[in-house]
Amino acid sequence: MIYELFNPVTKTLVTHLRDQRRDAIRFRHTVAELTKQLVYEALKEFPLIEKEIIPWQGSGCFSTIDEENIVVVTVLRAGMPMLDSVMELLPSAVAGFLAMKRDETTHESKLYYDRLPDCKGKNILLVDPMVATGGSMNDAIDLIKTREPLKIIMLNIIGSPEGLERVHSAHPDIDIYIAQIDEKLDKNKYIIPGLGDAGDRAYNTPE
Ligand code: PRP
Ligand code: URA
Repeated sequence: MIYELFNPVTKTLVTHLRDQRRDAIRFRHTVAELTKQLVYEALKEFPLIEKEIIPWQGSGCFSTIDEENIVVVTVLRAGMPMLDSVMELLPSAVAGFLAMKRDETTHESKLYYDRLPDCKGKNILLVDPMVATGGSMNDAIDLIKTREPLKIIMLNIIGSPEGLERVHSAHPDIDIYIAQIDEKLDKNKYIIPGLGDAGDRAYNTPE
């Protein structure tokens, strides 16, 4: 299923991201805030375990997400602020990294670095702000699935209808949580209205 967030705060933060006056540090902070909203929504029915902690009185077990069983996979570069944000909420989760670059002529994504941890039986949160053609997400999912995870959940900020449909039809088992579904792709496969190149916006690297 594809779940779009309709909270007014979410929509406000997406509008902030679209504003080209938003500088890189505030862009990354806003991406991080939106990521937290996506995590709350995506994990709202997630099972809890009981964990022994040291409370202020005596001893006892208390409810928590089993963080160690979660792997957060990001796609460099634009996914980095999202990874940091998830790890702030779930500090014992395990991080995984994929590096991909879209070829701006063919618009195909190319994997050039894979640093996935053990994914077998784990819950994977796959984070990337942009779903344009959906090629990067599909390639990432194809690879992660070869490592036998329990479940994959996608967290994204802006997607095109065609890119999301492409991912959903290739991987109907995956739940997609997204802050904003935009109108379409342009002839260069950029999202309209979108926000431009998320990696460039986040790290001050205009073409
Ligand atoms: C962006 C974005 C996605 C990809 C989406 O990365 O972060 O990974 O494009 O496009 P797709 O759905 O058509 O595959 P980009 O290749 O621009 O790299 P960057 O993060 O280094 O800027
Ligand atoms: N990658 C981006 O960062 N933005 C787009 O609109 C498309 C791909």
